[in-house]
Amino acid sequence: MVMAETKNQNLAYLEMDEKYVNPVLARSARIVAERAQGSWIYDMNGDAYLDMSTGIAVNSVGHCHPKVVAAVQKQVAELMHTSVTTYNKRYIELAKKLVEIAPDKSLDSVFLTNSGAECVEGAIKLARYVTGRPCVINFRGSFHGRTIFTTALTTSKLYYREKQEPLPGSIHTVSFPYQYRSHFRDDADKVVDEVFAELDVLFHQIVHPEQVACFLVEPIQGEGGYVIPPKGFLTRLRKLADEHGILLIIDEVQSGFARTGKMFAIEHEAVRPDIMLMAKAIAGGMPLAAFITRKELSHKWPPGRHGSTFGGNPVSCAAALATIDVIQQENLIERAEKLGKIMLERLQKFAKGKDYIGEVRGRGLMIGIEFNDKNGKPSKEWADKVAERCLEDKMIVLTCGTGGQVIRLIPPLTMSEEEMNKALDILEKAMTA
Ligand SMILES: Cc1ncc(COP(=O)(O)O)c(C=O)c1O
Repeated sequence: MVMAETKNQNLAYLEMDEKYVNPVLARSARIVAERAQGSWIYDMNGDAYLDMSTGIAVNSVGHCHPKVVAAVQKQVAELMHTSVTTYNKRYIELAKKLVEIAPDKSLDSVFLTNSGAECVEGAIKLARYVTGRPCVINFRGSFHGRTIFTTALTTSKLYYREKQEPLPGSIHTVSFPYQYRSHFRDDADKVVDEVFAELDVLFHQIVHPEQVACFLVEPIQGEGGYVIPPKGFLTRLRKLADEHGILLIIDEVQSGFARTGKMFAIEHEAVRPDIMLMAKAIAGGMPLAAFITRKELSHKWPPGRHGSTFGGNPVSCAAALATIDVIQQENLIERAEKLGKIMLERLQKFAKGKDYIGEVRGRGLMIGIEFNDKNGKPSKEWADKVAERCLEDKMIVLTCGTGGQVIRLIPPLTMSEEEMNKALDILEKAMTA
């Protein structure tokens, strides 16, 4: 009887949602979250769901980490907001911290925003302003946000762009080295060569490199399918950027903050960004994003040319400072690498001989499982079915990929080995059923 009443309570909210919430807001799991702790989300029935989605790579230190909660509670009581009317102590402390953990010593100047899309926009405004050049080159399959400019930069799915034309121009999009879906699946070098041949054509026939302000690239494509470019691609892109005075913007919105077994994914190839974008996991669940660049560039951008009312509010900054402390004190970089290796090995072993699993790939705890239909084409049907089955077994996973054919695993980096094994059991069952 009590159970039935609680269930009604859950349903009542879903009905209210239908009545009052704009349906454009798509949700994956049809459960109403009431609270969460660590690796678990509890719905209104009190049912526990193992969270392998972390609010799209946000809750990397686990839900409601006590140190992040304490920092937020303290800050809320002290100072919630001043915007640019005064200097904000936490903003300055966080800027210092981000400079300390940046992947290259040259990155020493920070700007804070509220969301990933906003930091993409800010970085492009900076690149255009300081180079005096209009164009952006980015890569097919990428996702950079949902504002109008970032929609124009996003090609992970037509669905996000359709019926939004005309979109802002001066954006040139070339192929990303997606080895698994390339004609040269067995030859990483050729996959990369093909991209640079395309860039060569672009520079000779479509846009002069002197008109290009920046390259914008995800070190691992997120929404596009957890696609890891072959080694050497980012190094070559850095070289090409240098040849033409083009700035290299690295979008670490999804891959940053220990997720891939390094503080930032770009460190796997030791490439120096001119501007690096951070968001999602930065503040343990509070809304915050940032871009970091060199003073040499940022000091050419006069005060007030860019700004934000809420960007870098003290509460989010306090959460970010606590989150970075947790990452460092709990050795979450090493943990992501260790658990990621175990998961990847077990899933790759499971995939052997199963032609519906095309590829299992990943770095650290950013793992994708790509599904195929009978003809070896991307299978959204498989990915959706697996996600559905996982939810029936009370585990939340998200899909991604240009055709929705990939299950992505982005658990809290704090999850226990027991939780990891449980997750893998549920997943393997779902992929067998
Ligand atoms: C790589 C990347 N860049 C930018 C964004 C946009 O971030 P936000 O949704 O916070 O605007 C996302 C969001 O998924 C992303 O994955």
